[in-house]
Amino acid sequence: MPQFPTHAPVLWFTGLSGAGKTTIAREIHQELTNRGIKVELLDGDEIRAVLSPDLGFSRKDRDLQVQRLGYIASLLARNRVVVLVSAISPYESSRNQALSMCERGREIHVHAPFETVLQRDTKGLYKKALAGEIKGLTGYDDPYEAPTQPDLFVPTAELELDQAKELVMRFLEKELADA
Ligand code: PPS
Ligand code: MG
Repeated sequence: MPQFPTHAPVLWFTGLSGAGKTTIAREIHQELTNRGIKVELLDGDEIRAVLSPDLGFSRKDRDLQVQRLGYIASLLARNRVVVLVSAISPYESSRNQALSMCERGREIHVHAPFETVLQRDTKGLYKKALAGEIKGLTGYDDPYEAPTQPDLFVPTAELELDQAKELVMRFLEKELADA
């Protein structure tokens, strides 16, 4: 089993709801598990249910959520567990702050145009927002500050899932080789 002499990488998947963060992160998680590499996936939705039921979607709450994710990721990574974080993490400053908590934090922008996520609408959230049933949906009536210089850009409207996975795996393999 590979051993990292140093902290493990933290791959931070940011992007709109429906862009493909969770889907790609799960694929990578499975691939690393198959290779016998220790890995954890911290998904925004899941962590919210367990650790952040007190938080909503105001800027303050999102920043706190991102900070919690960054802290947990840093604890795992320093114990040489590869960490995959999939969370919208819409604000650049808090995302950067969380990434900087992790010695080897890497930002991955999972991008799909708004029209695409609207069309996918896997959870029906955009439909609800359009109907005025929910407020503050990222990318619709709440901000998303896209990374200006992500370590990796994954355009999911232009790639099959397998291709997106390959792109991330190639990036991660370089990171692991540099460990
Ligand atoms: S954040 O912004 O980083 O704190 O968000 P995160 O912790 O990743 O949680 C995002 C998931 O919450 C659901 N959801 C919403 N997202 C954005 N805006 C609003 N208003 C909202 N309401 C509920 C949704 O399932 C998000 O998951 P993903 O996987 O991104 O679709
Ligand atoms: Mg998700």
